[in-house]
Amino acid sequence: MPGKDEFVVTPYEVKGRIDYERLREEFGTQSVTPELLAKLHHIAGGELPPALARGIYYSHRDLPALLDGYAHGTPFFVYSGRGPSGPLHTSHLLQFQLCQWFQRRLGVAMYIQITDDEKFWASKTGLAREETAQWGLENLIDILALGFDPKRTHTFFDSRSIAALYPLAIRVARKVSFSTVKAVFGFTPSTNIGLVFYTALQTVPAFWPSWAEGRPIPCLIPCGIDQDPHFRISRDMAESLGYPKPALLHSQMVPGLLGESVMSTTGDRSDNALFLNDPPEVVERKVRNAFTGGRATVEEQRRLGATPEICSVWALWRTQFAESDAKFADVTKGCRSGTLLCGECKSQLLERVHAFYRSHALARAKAAEWAESTILTQAPRPI
Ligand code: TRP
Repeated sequence: MPGKDEFVVTPYEVKGRIDYERLREEFGTQSVTPELLAKLHHIAGGELPPALARGIYYSHRDLPALLDGYAHGTPFFVYSGRGPSGPLHTSHLLQFQLCQWFQRRLGVAMYIQITDDEKFWASKTGLAREETAQWGLENLIDILALGFDPKRTHTFFDSRSIAALYPLAIRVARKVSFSTVKAVFGFTPSTNIGLVFYTALQTVPAFWPSWAEGRPIPCLIPCGIDQDPHFRISRDMAESLGYPKPALLHSQMVPGLLGESVMSTTGDRSDNALFLNDPPEVVERKVRNAFTGGRATVEEQRRLGATPEICSVWALWRTQFAESDAKFADVTKGCRSGTLLCGECKSQLLERVHAFYRSHALARAKAAEWAESTILTQAPRPI
Protein backbone atom coordinates (compact mmCIF):
# COMPACT_ATOMS: atom_id res chain seq x y z
CA MET A 1 0.00 0.00 0.00
CA PRO A 2 1.21 3.53 -0.70
CA GLY A 3 2.11 5.76 2.28
CA LYS A 4 -0.19 8.46 3.66
CA ASP A 5 0.61 11.09 1.05
CA GLU A 6 1.20 8.71 -1.81
CA PHE A 7 -1.23 7.59 -4.44
CA VAL A 8 -1.20 5.61 -7.64
CA VAL A 9 -3.40 6.43 -10.64
CA THR A 10 -3.30 4.30 -13.78
CA PRO A 11 -6.17 2.87 -15.85
CA TYR A 12 -5.73 -0.42 -13.97
CA GLU A 13 -5.09 0.79 -10.46
CA VAL A 14 -6.28 3.72 -8.35
CA LYS A 15 -4.84 3.64 -4.81
CA GLY A 16 -4.37 6.06 -1.93
CA ARG A 17 -5.84 9.51 -1.36
CA ILE A 18 -5.50 11.42 -4.61
CA ASP A 19 -4.13 14.95 -4.58
CA TYR A 20 -5.65 16.07 -7.89
CA GLU A 21 -3.54 19.16 -8.30
CA ARG A 22 -0.36 17.18 -7.81
CA LEU A 23 -1.59 14.49 -10.17
CA ARG A 24 -2.27 17.11 -12.83
CA GLU A 25 1.24 18.46 -12.45
CA GLU A 26 2.77 14.99 -12.58
CA PHE A 27 0.80 14.17 -15.73
CA GLY A 28 1.73 17.58 -17.18
CA THR A 29 -1.80 18.66 -18.13
CA GLN A 30 -3.42 22.12 -18.02
CA SER A 31 -5.98 23.47 -15.55
CA VAL A 32 -9.54 24.18 -16.57
CA THR A 33 -9.57 27.90 -15.75
CA PRO A 34 -12.51 30.32 -15.45
CA GLU A 35 -11.32 31.86 -18.74
CA LEU A 36 -11.54 28.50 -20.48
CA LEU A 37 -15.04 27.94 -19.09
CA ALA A 38 -16.04 31.39 -20.33
CA LYS A 39 -14.72 30.51 -23.79
CA LEU A 40 -16.74 27.29 -23.81
CA HIS A 41 -19.78 29.18 -22.69
CA HIS A 42 -19.29 31.70 -25.46
CA ILE A 43 -18.91 29.05 -28.16
CA ALA A 44 -21.59 26.61 -27.00
CA GLY A 45 -24.09 28.96 -25.35
CA GLY A 46 -26.53 27.98 -22.60
CA GLU A 47 -25.58 26.76 -19.12
CA LEU A 48 -22.53 24.53 -18.94
CA PRO A 49 -23.12 20.94 -17.75
CA PRO A 50 -22.88 20.71 -13.93
CA ALA A 51 -19.73 18.60 -13.85
CA LEU A 52 -17.94 21.15 -16.01
CA ALA A 53 -19.31 24.28 -14.34
CA ARG A 54 -18.63 22.92 -10.86
CA GLY A 55 -15.05 21.78 -11.17
CA ILE A 56 -15.27 17.98 -11.62
CA TYR A 57 -13.72 18.39 -15.09
CA TYR A 58 -10.66 20.16 -13.86
CA SER A 59 -7.86 19.31 -16.28
CA HIS A 60 -7.32 19.24 -20.04
CA ARG A 61 -4.90 18.92 -22.92
CA ASP A 62 -5.17 21.29 -25.88
CA LEU A 63 -8.82 22.21 -25.41
CA PRO A 64 -8.42 25.93 -26.31
CA ALA A 65 -6.87 25.13 -29.69
CA LEU A 66 -9.69 22.70 -30.48
CA LEU A 67 -12.30 25.33 -29.59
CA ASP A 68 -10.54 28.00 -31.64
CA GLY A 69 -10.49 25.62 -34.57
CA TYR A 70 -14.20 25.00 -34.17
CA ALA A 71 -14.90 28.75 -34.02
CA HIS A 72 -12.98 29.12 -37.30
CA GLY A 73 -14.92 26.39 -39.06
CA THR A 74 -13.09 23.13 -38.23
CA PRO A 75 -15.58 20.76 -36.62
CA PHE A 76 -14.36 18.07 -34.23
CA PHE A 77 -15.88 14.86 -32.89
CA VAL A 78 -16.16 13.54 -29.34
CA TYR A 79 -15.02 10.10 -28.24
CA SER A 80 -15.47 8.34 -24.92
CA GLY A 81 -15.84 4.78 -23.71
CA ARG A 82 -16.73 2.27 -21.08
CA GLY A 83 -15.17 -0.96 -19.89
CA PRO A 84 -18.25 -3.10 -19.18
CA SER A 85 -17.78 -4.98 -15.92
CA GLY A 86 -21.27 -4.55 -14.44
CA PRO A 87 -24.19 -2.12 -14.36
CA LEU A 88 -23.45 1.59 -14.75
CA HIS A 89 -23.91 3.84 -11.77
CA THR A 90 -24.99 7.47 -11.95
CA SER A 91 -21.43 8.83 -11.79
CA HIS A 92 -20.38 6.74 -14.80
CA LEU A 93 -22.77 8.88 -16.82
CA LEU A 94 -20.85 12.11 -16.27
CA GLN A 95 -18.45 11.75 -19.19
CA PHE A 96 -21.29 10.77 -21.51
CA GLN A 97 -23.54 13.60 -20.33
CA LEU A 98 -20.72 15.93 -21.23
CA CYS A 99 -20.38 14.33 -24.68
CA GLN A 100 -24.12 14.57 -25.21
CA TRP A 101 -24.00 18.24 -24.31
CA PHE A 102 -21.29 18.83 -26.93
CA GLN A 103 -23.34 16.96 -29.50
CA ARG A 104 -26.52 18.87 -28.72
CA ARG A 105 -24.90 22.32 -28.56
CA LEU A 106 -22.39 21.95 -31.41
CA GLY A 107 -23.86 19.18 -33.56
CA VAL A 108 -20.71 17.08 -33.36
CA ALA A 109 -20.42 13.34 -34.06
CA MET A 110 -19.97 10.96 -31.13
CA TYR A 111 -17.92 7.76 -31.06
CA ILE A 112 -18.43 5.37 -28.14
CA GLN A 113 -16.09 2.49 -27.40
CA ILE A 114 -17.32 -0.51 -25.40
CA THR A 115 -14.30 -2.53 -24.34
CA ASP A 116 -15.69 -5.96 -23.54
CA ASP A 117 -12.26 -7.40 -24.42
CA GLU A 118 -10.38 -5.13 -22.01
CA LYS A 119 -12.64 -5.97 -19.09
CA PHE A 120 -12.27 -9.68 -19.73
CA TRP A 121 -8.47 -9.34 -19.80
CA ALA A 122 -8.27 -7.00 -16.82
CA SER A 123 -10.93 -8.56 -14.61
CA LYS A 124 -9.74 -9.22 -11.08
CA THR A 125 -12.98 -10.99 -10.25
CA GLY A 126 -12.79 -13.40 -13.17
CA LEU A 127 -15.68 -12.08 -15.27
CA ALA A 128 -16.76 -14.48 -18.01
CA ARG A 129 -16.72 -13.40 -21.66
CA GLU A 130 -20.50 -13.72 -21.79
CA GLU A 131 -20.74 -11.30 -18.88
CA THR A 132 -18.53 -8.55 -20.30
CA ALA A 133 -20.33 -8.83 -23.65
CA GLN A 134 -23.75 -8.72 -22.04
CA TRP A 135 -22.89 -5.78 -19.78
CA GLY A 136 -21.43 -4.08 -22.82
CA LEU A 137 -24.79 -4.03 -24.56
CA GLU A 138 -26.67 -3.03 -21.40
CA ASN A 139 -24.21 -0.21 -20.74
CA LEU A 140 -24.39 0.98 -24.35
CA ILE A 141 -28.17 1.24 -24.14
CA ASP A 142 -27.91 3.29 -20.92
CA ILE A 143 -25.39 5.61 -22.58
CA LEU A 144 -27.46 6.12 -25.74
CA ALA A 145 -30.55 6.81 -23.60
CA LEU A 146 -28.94 10.05 -22.44
CA GLY A 147 -30.20 11.52 -25.69
CA PHE A 148 -27.57 10.89 -28.34
CA ASP A 149 -28.58 11.48 -31.94
CA PRO A 150 -28.81 8.07 -33.72
CA LYS A 151 -27.63 9.62 -36.98
CA ARG A 152 -24.42 11.05 -35.56
CA THR A 153 -23.51 8.44 -32.97
CA HIS A 154 -21.33 5.39 -33.65
CA THR A 155 -20.12 2.56 -31.46
CA PHE A 156 -17.01 0.42 -31.46
CA PHE A 157 -18.03 -2.69 -29.56
CA ASP A 158 -14.56 -4.20 -29.48
CA SER A 159 -15.28 -7.91 -29.92
CA ARG A 160 -17.85 -7.19 -32.63
CA SER A 161 -16.15 -4.23 -34.33
CA ILE A 162 -12.72 -5.75 -34.77
CA ALA A 163 -12.97 -5.69 -38.58
CA ALA A 164 -13.59 -1.94 -38.41
CA LEU A 165 -10.77 -1.33 -35.92
CA TYR A 166 -8.07 -3.74 -36.95
CA PRO A 167 -6.58 -2.17 -40.09
CA LEU A 168 -5.82 0.98 -38.09
CA ALA A 169 -4.87 -0.96 -34.92
CA ILE A 170 -2.12 -2.65 -36.93
CA ARG A 171 -0.52 0.71 -37.66
CA VAL A 172 -1.01 2.02 -34.13
CA ALA A 173 0.37 -1.11 -32.46
CA ARG A 174 3.61 -0.87 -34.43
CA LYS A 175 4.30 2.47 -32.72
CA VAL A 176 3.98 1.13 -29.16
CA SER A 177 6.84 -0.76 -27.56
CA PHE A 178 6.64 -3.16 -24.67
CA SER A 179 8.87 -0.90 -22.58
CA THR A 180 6.37 1.94 -23.05
CA VAL A 181 3.36 -0.06 -21.82
CA LYS A 182 5.43 -1.49 -19.01
CA ALA A 183 6.39 1.98 -17.80
CA VAL A 184 3.00 3.63 -18.42
CA PHE A 185 0.70 0.94 -17.02
CA GLY A 186 3.02 -0.87 -14.63
CA PHE A 187 2.74 -4.18 -16.51
CA THR A 188 4.85 -7.12 -15.34
CA PRO A 189 6.01 -10.30 -17.08
CA SER A 190 2.85 -12.07 -15.84
CA THR A 191 0.45 -9.51 -17.40
CA ASN A 192 -1.57 -11.26 -20.11
CA ILE A 193 -0.68 -10.30 -23.66
CA GLY A 194 -4.23 -9.14 -24.40
CA LEU A 195 -3.72 -6.13 -22.14
CA VAL A 196 -0.29 -5.46 -23.61
CA PHE A 197 -1.94 -4.98 -27.01
CA TYR A 198 -5.15 -3.41 -25.74
CA THR A 199 -3.97 0.20 -25.55
CA ALA A 200 -3.68 0.18 -29.36
CA LEU A 201 -7.43 -0.48 -29.57
CA GLN A 202 -8.22 2.39 -27.22
CA THR A 203 -6.25 4.76 -29.44
CA VAL A 204 -7.92 3.73 -32.70
CA PRO A 205 -11.26 5.61 -32.27
CA ALA A 206 -9.31 8.87 -31.77
CA PHE A 207 -7.97 8.56 -35.34
CA TRP A 208 -10.70 6.51 -37.00
CA PRO A 209 -12.87 9.34 -38.40
CA SER A 210 -9.78 11.00 -39.92
CA TRP A 211 -8.82 7.69 -41.47
CA ALA A 212 -12.37 7.08 -42.72
CA GLU A 213 -12.73 10.55 -44.25
CA GLY A 214 -9.17 10.81 -45.50
CA ARG A 215 -8.67 14.24 -43.89
CA PRO A 216 -7.67 15.35 -40.39
CA ILE A 217 -10.64 15.66 -38.03
CA PRO A 218 -9.82 16.85 -34.51
CA CYS A 219 -10.93 14.67 -31.60
CA LEU A 220 -11.99 15.56 -28.05
CA ILE A 221 -11.98 12.85 -25.37
CA PRO A 222 -13.82 13.47 -22.09
CA CYS A 223 -12.62 10.86 -19.58
CA GLY A 224 -11.60 10.17 -16.00
CA ILE A 225 -8.04 11.33 -15.40
CA ASP A 226 -7.06 7.69 -14.81
CA GLN A 227 -7.43 7.14 -18.58
CA ASP A 228 -4.88 9.82 -19.49
CA PRO A 229 -1.96 7.33 -19.74
CA HIS A 230 -3.60 5.61 -22.74
CA PHE A 231 -4.03 8.91 -24.54
CA ARG A 232 -0.50 10.11 -23.83
CA ILE A 233 0.51 7.16 -25.99
CA SER A 234 -2.04 8.19 -28.66
CA ARG A 235 -0.81 11.77 -28.62
CA ASP A 236 2.84 10.77 -28.87
CA MET A 237 2.29 8.86 -32.10
CA ALA A 238 -0.52 10.90 -33.67
CA GLU A 239 1.53 13.13 -35.91
CA SER A 240 3.79 10.37 -37.14
CA LEU A 241 0.66 8.64 -38.47
CA GLY A 242 -0.66 11.88 -39.96
CA TYR A 243 -3.52 12.46 -37.48
CA PRO A 244 -4.22 15.37 -35.10
CA LYS A 245 -3.31 14.83 -31.46
CA PRO A 246 -6.56 14.20 -29.56
CA ALA A 247 -7.56 16.90 -27.06
CA LEU A 248 -8.62 15.72 -23.60
CA LEU A 249 -10.89 16.86 -20.83
CA HIS A 250 -10.24 15.05 -17.55
CA SER A 251 -12.51 14.53 -14.57
CA GLN A 252 -11.77 13.73 -10.98
CA MET A 253 -13.10 10.45 -9.56
CA VAL A 254 -16.42 11.02 -7.81
CA PRO A 255 -16.47 9.76 -4.19
CA GLY A 256 -18.85 6.91 -3.36
CA LEU A 257 -21.94 7.04 -1.13
CA LEU A 258 -20.14 5.47 1.80
CA GLY A 259 -17.49 8.18 1.95
CA GLU A 260 -14.13 8.47 0.29
CA SER A 261 -12.20 6.13 2.57
CA VAL A 262 -14.38 3.19 1.56
CA MET A 263 -13.37 3.58 -2.09
CA SER A 264 -9.90 2.22 -1.49
CA THR A 265 -10.90 -0.97 0.31
CA THR A 266 -12.12 -4.12 -1.34
CA GLY A 267 -15.26 -6.03 -0.45
CA ASP A 268 -18.92 -5.44 -1.16
CA ARG A 269 -19.21 -2.03 -2.66
CA SER A 270 -22.72 -2.27 -4.04
CA ASP A 271 -24.00 0.24 -1.46
CA ASN A 272 -21.35 2.71 -2.52
CA ALA A 273 -23.13 3.88 -5.69
CA LEU A 274 -26.57 4.25 -7.26
CA PHE A 275 -26.71 1.66 -10.01
CA LEU A 276 -29.01 2.33 -12.92
CA ASN A 277 -30.73 -1.04 -12.41
CA ASP A 278 -31.46 -0.40 -8.71
CA PRO A 279 -35.20 -0.40 -7.95
CA PRO A 280 -36.61 2.76 -6.28
CA GLU A 281 -36.60 1.29 -2.76
CA VAL A 282 -32.91 0.41 -3.05
CA VAL A 283 -32.10 3.91 -4.31
CA GLU A 284 -34.04 5.28 -1.34
CA ARG A 285 -32.19 3.10 1.16
CA LYS A 286 -28.76 3.88 -0.28
CA VAL A 287 -29.32 7.63 -0.16
CA ARG A 288 -30.80 7.45 3.36
CA ASN A 289 -27.69 5.52 4.54
CA ALA A 290 -25.20 7.62 2.60
CA PHE A 291 -22.23 9.20 4.33
CA THR A 292 -22.73 12.93 4.94
CA GLY A 293 -20.80 15.84 6.38
CA GLY A 294 -23.43 16.31 9.09
CA ARG A 295 -22.89 16.72 12.85
CA ALA A 296 -23.63 14.21 15.60
CA THR A 297 -26.81 15.98 16.75
CA VAL A 298 -29.43 18.25 15.17
CA GLU A 299 -28.72 20.90 17.79
CA GLU A 300 -25.02 20.93 16.91
CA GLN A 301 -25.74 21.04 13.21
CA ARG A 302 -28.11 24.00 13.55
CA ARG A 303 -25.45 25.80 15.57
CA LEU A 304 -22.28 24.91 13.65
CA GLY A 305 -23.47 23.92 10.17
CA ALA A 306 -22.24 20.88 8.23
CA THR A 307 -19.33 20.21 5.83
CA PRO A 308 -20.39 19.77 2.18
CA GLU A 309 -16.90 18.98 0.89
CA ILE A 310 -16.80 15.58 2.60
CA CYS A 311 -20.47 14.72 1.96
CA SER A 312 -21.41 12.10 -0.64
CA VAL A 313 -24.92 13.55 -0.98
CA TRP A 314 -23.52 16.98 -1.76
CA ALA A 315 -21.33 15.31 -4.41
CA LEU A 316 -24.52 14.05 -6.11
CA TRP A 317 -26.05 17.52 -6.10
CA ARG A 318 -22.83 18.97 -7.42
CA THR A 319 -22.15 16.55 -10.24
CA GLN A 320 -25.60 15.88 -11.60
CA PHE A 321 -28.74 16.54 -9.66
CA ALA A 322 -28.80 20.29 -8.95
CA GLU A 323 -30.72 21.45 -12.02
CA SER A 324 -29.29 24.98 -11.89
CA ASP A 325 -26.30 26.77 -10.44
CA ALA A 326 -28.75 28.71 -8.25
CA LYS A 327 -30.16 25.49 -6.72
CA PHE A 328 -26.65 24.20 -6.14
CA ALA A 329 -25.63 27.43 -4.40
CA ASP A 330 -28.77 27.19 -2.23
CA VAL A 331 -28.06 23.64 -1.09
CA THR A 332 -24.43 24.46 -0.33
CA LYS A 333 -25.32 27.56 1.66
CA GLY A 334 -28.10 25.78 3.60
CA CYS A 335 -25.73 22.94 4.45
CA ARG A 336 -22.87 25.12 5.62
CA SER A 337 -25.08 27.40 7.68
CA GLY A 338 -27.04 24.63 9.41
CA THR A 339 -30.45 25.66 8.05
CA LEU A 340 -30.72 22.62 5.74
CA LEU A 341 -30.51 19.39 7.74
CA CYS A 342 -29.33 16.12 6.21
CA GLY A 343 -32.73 14.37 6.25
CA GLU A 344 -34.42 17.20 4.37
CA CYS A 345 -31.49 17.54 1.96
CA LYS A 346 -31.71 13.81 1.17
CA SER A 347 -35.47 14.05 0.58
CA GLN A 348 -34.99 16.88 -1.89
CA LEU A 349 -32.23 15.01 -3.68
CA LEU A 350 -34.27 11.79 -3.80
CA GLU A 351 -37.11 13.59 -5.59
CA ARG A 352 -34.69 14.44 -8.37
CA VAL A 353 -33.01 11.04 -8.44
CA HIS A 354 -36.34 9.21 -8.67
CA ALA A 355 -37.48 11.55 -11.46
CA PHE A 356 -34.25 10.87 -13.33
CA TYR A 357 -34.69 7.08 -13.00
CA ARG A 358 -38.26 7.32 -14.31
CA SER A 359 -37.36 9.32 -17.41
CA HIS A 360 -34.23 7.25 -17.97
CA ALA A 361 -36.31 4.05 -18.03
CA LEU A 362 -38.48 5.47 -20.81
CA ALA A 363 -35.54 6.74 -22.86
CA ARG A 364 -33.77 3.42 -22.34
CA ALA A 365 -36.64 1.40 -23.76
CA LYS A 366 -36.47 3.51 -26.93
CA ALA A 367 -32.66 3.38 -27.18
CA ALA A 368 -32.74 -0.43 -26.90
CA GLU A 369 -34.46 -0.49 -30.30
CA TRP A 370 -31.63 1.26 -32.14
CA ALA A 371 -28.50 0.49 -30.07
CA GLU A 372 -27.40 -2.34 -32.39
CA SER A 373 -27.60 -0.08 -35.42
CA THR A 374 -24.84 2.18 -34.03
CA ILE A 375 -22.27 -0.63 -33.89
CA LEU A 376 -19.63 -0.29 -36.61
CA THR A 377 -18.58 -3.59 -38.13
CA GLN A 378 -16.70 -2.62 -41.27
CA ALA A 379 -13.54 -0.72 -42.05
CA PRO A 380 -14.01 2.24 -44.39
CA ARG A 381 -11.50 0.57 -46.72
CA PRO A 382 -9.67 -2.72 -46.69
CA ILE A 383 -6.11 -1.56 -45.98
N1 TRP B 1 -10.63 1.89 -20.64
C1 TRP B 1 -11.90 2.46 -20.32
C2 TRP B 1 -12.49 1.79 -19.06
O1 TRP B 1 -11.92 0.93 -18.48
C3 TRP B 1 -12.88 2.36 -21.47
C4 TRP B 1 -12.59 3.32 -22.59
C5 TRP B 1 -12.31 2.99 -23.90
C6 TRP B 1 -12.57 4.74 -22.51
N2 TRP B 1 -12.14 4.12 -24.66
C7 TRP B 1 -12.29 5.20 -23.83
C8 TRP B 1 -12.80 5.65 -21.48
C9 TRP B 1 -12.21 6.58 -24.11
C10 TRP B 1 -12.74 7.02 -21.76
C11 TRP B 1 -12.43 7.46 -23.08
O2 TRP B 1 -13.56 2.15 -18.63
